[in-house]
Amino acid sequence: MRTEQPQMIYLKDYQAPDYLIDETHLTFELFEDHTLVHAQLLMRRNPARGAGLPALALDGQQLELLSVSLDDIELTAEDYQLSDSHLILHPTSEQFVVDTSVRIHPESNTALEGLYKSGGMFCTQCEAEGFRKITYYLDRPDVMSKFTTTVVAEQHSYPILLSNGNPIASGPDEDGRHWATWEDPFMKPAYLFALVAGDLWCVEDTFTTMSERSVALRIYVEPENIDKCQHAMTSLKKSMRWDEETYGREYDLDIFMIVAVNDFNMGAMENKGLNIFNSSAVLARAETATDAAHQRVEAIVAHEYFHNWSGNRVTCRDWFQLSLKEGFTVFRDSEFSADMNSRTVKRIQDVAYLRTHQFAEDAGPMAHAVRPESFIEISNFYTLTVYEKGSEVVRMIHTLLGAEGFRKGSDLYFERHDGQAVTCDDFIKAMEDANGADLSQFKRWYSQAGTPRLAVSEHYDAQQHTYSLTFAQSCPATPDKIEKLPFVIPVELGLLDAGGSEIALQLAGEAAASGTSRVLSVTEAEQTFTFVGINEKPLPSLLRGFSAPVKLSFDYSRDQLMFLMQHDSDGFNRWDAGQQLAVQVLQELIAQHQRGEALVMDQRLVEALRTVLGNEQLDQAMVAEMLSLPGEAYLTEISDVADVEAIHVAREFARKQLADSLFDALWTRYQANREVSKATPYVAEAEHFARRALQNIALSYLMLSGKPQVLAAALEQFEHSDNMTERLTALAVLVNSPYEAEKAAALASFAEQFKDNPLVMDQWFSVQAGSTLPGGLQRVRELMQHPAFTIKNPNKVRALVGAFAGQNLINFHAADGSGYRFLADLVIELNGFNPQIASRQLAPLTRWRKYDAARQALMKAELERIRSSGELSSDVFEVVSKSLA
Ligand code: TRP
Ligand code: ZN
Repeated sequence: MRTEQPQMIYLKDYQAPDYLIDETHLTFELFEDHTLVHAQLLMRRNPARGAGLPALALDGQQLELLSVSLDDIELTAEDYQLSDSHLILHPTSEQFVVDTSVRIHPESNTALEGLYKSGGMFCTQCEAEGFRKITYYLDRPDVMSKFTTTVVAEQHSYPILLSNGNPIASGPDEDGRHWATWEDPFMKPAYLFALVAGDLWCVEDTFTTMSERSVALRIYVEPENIDKCQHAMTSLKKSMRWDEETYGREYDLDIFMIVAVNDFNMGAMENKGLNIFNSSAVLARAETATDAAHQRVEAIVAHEYFHNWSGNRVTCRDWFQLSLKEGFTVFRDSEFSADMNSRTVKRIQDVAYLRTHQFAEDAGPMAHAVRPESFIEISNFYTLTVYEKGSEVVRMIHTLLGAEGFRKGSDLYFERHDGQAVTCDDFIKAMEDANGADLSQFKRWYSQAGTPRLAVSEHYDAQQHTYSLTFAQSCPATPDKIEKLPFVIPVELGLLDAGGSEIALQLAGEAAASGTSRVLSVTEAEQTFTFVGINEKPLPSLLRGFSAPVKLSFDYSRDQLMFLMQHDSDGFNRWDAGQQLAVQVLQELIAQHQRGEALVMDQRLVEALRTVLGNEQLDQAMVAEMLSLPGEAYLTEISDVADVEAIHVAREFARKQLADSLFDALWTRYQANREVSKATPYVAEAEHFARRALQNIALSYLMLSGKPQVLAAALEQFEHSDNMTERLTALAVLVNSPYEAEKAAALASFAEQFKDNPLVMDQWFSVQAGSTLPGGLQRVRELMQHPAFTIKNPNKVRALVGAFAGQNLINFHAADGSGYRFLADLVIELNGFNPQIASRQLAPLTRWRKYDAARQALMKAELERIRSSGELSSDVFEVVSKSLA
């Protein structure tokens, strides 16, 4: 907690550091009731900053200073200034050594930032500004140093002592203690520092790099989890090979380690050579983790591994450049997942997530550019915009330059900036220089917030045989800027003839047609492209593969959307046509409900999905995606004023209609797939994910029919599945059903079976927190009293509170404001011990603009109440004050 009002920090104020730290030598003495940290910093004046020796302000928070010396001379209180954020020294030479000793308290660190304890082990989380809670330092990413770290701890409780780089020495110490020294040969900023000490077991493997070097791979976990590491290890080896093949990037140390910890604020952290993971992002085996969890582990292992180049070897100059490493690395991991599994399905899932969550962020009070220009608390900027939209921006560069051009650009970027701390401009410059391209207008994607709208209209000239598409782009005002300049929007498109075949594309002025799917660059506020040689009015397939993160509108009829669903050569657009059709149908139902009319659903949606369901040629995962109606959160996002009840009623009505009308087809495919599942041991691969995905969505529809054979099937699947994917869906459909006795029995037997596995209990909490049956808040309150729940563990908070406020919209947005009150109380409590989690859980309340006046007033009142609840962390302060501004 701080005492002064938190300050805004601006990108325009960036200055290079006055001093550099060539070497950092750390010694940690770990004890049960405190830790001593000795730091020796070999420092010098930054030659780039000119003459003179300004004061040296080292960052430090919550440190008890025991001693400080400059060039071996111990300083006294007159020699330095100490505040709750800095230690200020006065160097007298260009080159000098600073020694400090501090006492810290990892054993009572509940914020999970800096050095803390999770279960019985010590671990660190330094990104973004956690290192200053470990020792006095220049805690900024453009200060890079060579680290040597010695850890001393009691041998019996902490047999494993780890830090970055290579182990160089170890030995016993007095009083049953021991020590180990690690040396990291690569210069790195402090945010990549890591330390782990604990009683851990490890799974080992080796990887031979493309230049035939052997790398030891180790995944460290608590002993009871040693049987859940294989999937992460396999994923790691695939990632290492993929980065060699796709980007020419080889691993650079002799050892690569992953450690799983239970208490972690985010998914995982890319510390050099020593990645630290939330256990939910490492542990996976069939019996305890779903297919989605397996895919998440694969993606996060890859993401953190890829950071070794995009983030570590080339790092960020300052935190405004966060998307330099995060947007690029998300792009890299999503392409990896696409290559390992189904490319189209991965794209569909990413786009659905972006449209639902990032678009909502971009339309709310915390909207910011991919490269923000100011912030109060950097922890608040690990956002969907920096990560997911940042990845879309890199994807557009890839689309505009082509795969080969992009690779030339990334090669140049890594070669030119290896060992440096750079900016998004440097990334763009490398892409430009390697390709002779001009991306100056494109760079507006980094500086302008908000989701652009792209309205498309058509004109067919039967005499001239020309077909014109006019694109009109605009971007809504966001808190940072009112007026926006036009973006460069790559629009991949094709034209379909009446038979559904693709037409060869020739733009006016071109000598000949080339290709049937092309990328047009829309660069002006309004721009028309004319295709020639078009002998009949075509149907356009626009924004294929979601080639830009925009809201595209084109006035399709429902029949045209059904046509695209069947004939578009682009799989993503086939799915998207189905989504647009479903949105139209659902919006009509919403309007009927609002007018108090009986709901009547357009049967074309039923018939379109019947066709999909009957198509045995189609990838089953695609069938499952196409059967999934747009979620309530997405329907909220695309509404001007979201009607919570109408959205819920309409969507549930549509689900029931589909379940009844398609019962036989769903039942046939369910049974067929369940039979295969019964006869097949669990395999974590695309084809098996696909079979289970269709089986499970079919079951969730079938359950709405209320037929006894479906209840029997759900119970059979719950009791006899050998994997969590099938078991958890069976549990979820029971939890959402009216069969009270069966539901209670299933919940009880599940909890009994998995009570000792916290990650499985998280799923048990989530399934219940997500149930949209009445009484949701009361259920969540009761579950918070369950012995397996603790508010101190972020995964538990996310599983219960996050799932309730983020996914159970009908209950969270109860008209009496009880959901809002509950969330505000929780945020106030979390603010007192874990500000990062408090701030993240607050997000649903910041979306108040989307709701009716009564709900807006209730939500704002809760934000006000948080604001005046006492001393706020900078994290919560920033979100609350911006939301109320
Ligand atoms: N760099 C991490 C990632 O994206 C993000 C991260 C992990 C993080 N833990 C954090 C960010 C804690 C802020 C605070 O892979
Ligand atoms: Zn990352």
